[in-house]
This record gives sequence, structure tokens and C-alpha cells, in this order.
Amino acid sequence: MAFFSKSTTPVKSQPPEQDGALPVHVAIIMDGNGRWAKQRYLPRIAGHRAGVDVVRTIVEACAAKGIRVLTLFAFSSENWRRPEAEVNLLVDLLLTSLQREVEKLHKNGIRLRFIGERSAFNAKLIEMMSSAERLTADNTGLTLVIALNYGGRWDVTQAAQQLARRVEAGEIRADDIDAAMMETRLCLHGLPEPDLFIRTGGEQRISNFLLWHLSYTELYFTAILWPDFDARAFDDALASFSSRQRRFGRTGDQVEQAKGA
Ligand code: FPP
Repeated sequence: MAFFSKSTTPVKSQPPEQDGALPVHVAIIMDGNGRWAKQRYLPRIAGHRAGVDVVRTIVEACAAKGIRVLTLFAFSSENWRRPEAEVNLLVDLLLTSLQREVEKLHKNGIRLRFIGERSAFNAKLIEMMSSAERLTADNTGLTLVIALNYGGRWDVTQAAQQLARRVEAGEIRADDIDAAMMETRLCLHGLPEPDLFIRTGGEQRISNFLLWHLSYTELYFTAILWPDFDARAFDDALASFSSRQRRFGRTGDQVEQAKGA
């Protein structure tokens, strides 16, 4: 399956191949855990714990529907600004969730990949990420991408730095750099760009998520708080996606003609 090749050539999810019925790649900002907990007079971490259960539901739904890639924004590079106690609990929750789930994910043919600056985390979590990636590397089912200490600006910057080093070393010329070459240095290289972006929790912003990759992604915002987001709410997002015409700069008539061809 081309989407899962180890080649660094980026694979695009753009038409005419895609009929638009089902997204190939879904990316989600899981927002609203804190408010969900507050409404119940619970500590914020209770909202994050409830959020992990929803992650399981949505991973299962994606696998069952044949969605190829799911990217989840689990910890942004800005989340370090939260109170230290919440950050520590969140990092612990990520570690324990991974410890509990990785074997099951592997048995279900799911391939795990982590994006973000991982050196900021403790040694246990760093090792957990690497071992989970190694264990599941050859799986051909859903690719589950978890963004940890990820920021879109950081991603583009580190890609630019890599290419600048190649220019300094005389391996390439500055004029050789184009969008395709940039993509080979971005964290999601080798995967198709997201077709559908979902943000729960009512806010309508991208919050430094996949800045480069969301250029042509269909955006879907819902007021539902992440712990309340369920299979039905996910189906609503998919239905909204399938009703949209993706033009990628072309006219609506051109898209219709290409479909009929
Ligand atoms: C945003 O809600 C949520 C987060 C910063 C953390 C999301 C993490 C999880 C659901 C755990 C994921 C686990 C795995 C294994 C992928 P918020 O706290 O900003 O909510 P608020 O806006 O209501 O305060």
C-alpha cells in the first residue's frame, strides 16, 4: 500500500484518485477536557482521563472504516505553559496509556508514529515512543500519529534548518529547494496530507497544529467537548466532509468533469 511505504516521497491525498467519500487522513485537536471536568466539579486530569477513552473509540472507528491515517494533537509545544502539576499528570497519563494500549494496537495491525520534539520528555516516555514505533513499524493497518510537544512552526523551522545544512555542505543549491523537498523534511513525511481536520470544544482555530499540511484540508469545528465526542459525532464530521466539493484551486465544473471522466 503506497501510503505506508517507507520512501520519503510524500504521498498526496489529492484528486483525481480520491472520490471524496471518506477521508484518507483525519487530524484532530482534542479540546475541551478541562471544561468537561469543571462542569462535573472534577479535577482537570479527570477530563484528560475521559479523553483517553474517546481516543480508543475514535481509533477503533477509523480502523473499522478503513481510514488510513489518524493524527492526534495530544500535547502541543505550548502546553508546557500549563500549571506544572497538570503537565506532570498529563505526561504520566500519556505514558501509562501507551504502556496499556501499545500491545493491543499492535495486535490490531496499527502502526504508531510520534511527531514533535521528543527530547523534552522524560527518558521513560522517550523510550516508550521509540519501542512502540519499532514494534509496530511493519503493520499495514491504520497509522496512528500522536503529536507530542509538537508545533507547526517548529516543524517548518526544523525542516528549513535541515535543508540549510545541506546547502552549507554544498549538497544542494538554495534554488533546488521546493515544496516537495520541504515535505521530505517535515514530520509527516511519507504520509498523505490530512483530508479532514476536526477540532472539538468550540474554539475555531488551528493553534499551531499542522500548519504546512492543513493548506487544503477540510476544516470541521464542533462545540462538543472531547470527552463527549463519540462514534456518532465522528460520523457527523465524516458526513460533513463527504458533502464538500474539494477543488484544489480548480473550478467546480472542472471537478465535476474530472469525476465523470
Ligand atoms: C485539550 O483540552 C486537551 C489536551 C491538551 C490533552 C489531550 C490529551 C488526551 C485526550 C490524552 C491523549 C492520549 C493518548 C494516548 C493519545 P483542554 O485541557 O485544553 O480543555 P479545556 O479547553 O476545556 O481547558
